[in-house]
Amino acid sequence: MQLLGRVICFVVGILLSGGPTGTISAVDPEANMNVTEIIMHWGYPGEEHSVQTGDGYILGVHRIPHGRKNQFDKGPKPVVYLQHGFLADSSNWVTNIDNNSLGFILADAGFDVWMGNSRGNTWSRKHKTLSVSQDEYWAFSFDEMAKYDLPASINYILNKTGQEQLYYVGHSQGCTIGFIAFSQMPELAKKVKMFFALAPVLSLNFASGPMVKLGRLPDLLLEDLFGQKQFLPQSAMVKWLSTHICTHVIMKELCANIFFLICGFNEKNLNMSRVDVYTTHCPAGTSVQNMVHWTQVSTPGYRWAQVSTLGYRWAQVSTLGYRWVQVCTLGYCWAQVKLVLGKVGAGQAREPPSIALLHTCPRQKQ
Ligand SMILES: *[C@@H]1O[C@H](CO)[C@@H](O)[C@H](O)[C@H]1NC(C)=O
Ligand SMILES: *[C@@H]1O[C@H](CO)[C@@H](O)[C@H](O)[C@H]1NC(C)=O
Ligand SMILES: *[C@@H]1O[C@H](CO)[C@@H](O)[C@H](O)[C@H]1NC(C)=O
Ligand SMILES: *[C@@H]1O[C@H](CO)[C@@H](O)[C@H](O)[C@H]1NC(C)=O
Repeated sequence: MQLLGRVICFVVGILLSGGPTGTISAVDPEANMNVTEIIMHWGYPGEEHSVQTGDGYILGVHRIPHGRKNQFDKGPKPVVYLQHGFLADSSNWVTNIDNNSLGFILADAGFDVWMGNSRGNTWSRKHKTLSVSQDEYWAFSFDEMAKYDLPASINYILNKTGQEQLYYVGHSQGCTIGFIAFSQMPELAKKVKMFFALAPVLSLNFASGPMVKLGRLPDLLLEDLFGQKQFLPQSAMVKWLSTHICTHVIMKELCANIFFLICGFNEKNLNMSRVDVYTTHCPAGTSVQNMVHWTQVSTPGYRWAQVSTLGYRWAQVSTLGYRWVQVCTLGYCWAQVKLVLGKVGAGQAREPPSIALLHTCPRQKQ
């Protein structure tokens, strides 16, 4: 508490000392834009799509159908699907400047870019019958994102574009749900031409960092702290803090450090002039149940297959036992994991041992 008091004094002190001397930088207009608006702000065409999952969730999917330079190209473009990670959203692919955001780069390179949103985040808070005020709505974890969200989104996109396959780019949890979905649903896996796994997570056995430490808290305590519904949604308060506090020159450092704390330290890769744009979009929220499920995964000694048979305390627990080895039989995953090995250390969730496990697993005959 004492520490909290000091931090508050520090923040208020800095705010007061700043005053009209110009140390407060203007809020970037993108901080107050939604994803489609950001896309259009940079001169790209933006579309919003609603995808309904098999269990009634309605997901917001964003699309950049073509780039700025290639809008008159004839013929179908290759489709790429980008799937964000834990607590994140589709804005991740467009919140840097145009030549530095994967979504824009791919669009200009000739791809038809689709960006998914997992249930429960800022853009996917609707349901056919449930409302976000109900506990039942939040009874999901990455299990359901893999089982329902991914197939619904991928099938929707293929239907809209009339194509048979797409490229899948996952980040962090976006890879986890890809590994789960493609290993459990071979029919779905056939629709993926190539799986690019950025900072892939198969296990948290070797991970460190504050988020993992938070995850070591007992489930009950987590529930006490965060309730049973949503975890770190993008709220009016976060937005206020981001646009009022993070734009302050000194506070920018603090906001950036909060990012580093959660995501890993990498000053070179964080554009300090855009911290307000990042923090007004992320965290984008997930369910407490998802957080708790990750907790179970990060408990030392547990492996995936065990996690799923642990018996979840809440309703709607998946009883799937994930057999990761199956992922390797798909062939493409094996190759791309090798590709990204050198880059895994970007976050603090370092998982070389589990990646190595996948990496060395022999390619089986199809
Ligand atoms: C995003 O902004 C556009 C343009 O103002 C608006 O048409 C659209 O409904 C907004 N989308 C969401 C999901 O709020
Ligand atoms: C992107 O654009 C910025 C500003 O226009 C420029 O400084 C930077 O060098 C460009 N980066 C790349 C990779 O082209
Ligand atoms: C897309 O789905 C609709 C409705 O189910 C169907 O009529 C249509 O043929 C599908 N289009 C393609 C290209 O698969
Ligand atoms: C960082 O963000 C600022 C403000 O949006 C922009 O002008 C600058 O070009 C960006 N730098 C890089 C390297 O992307």
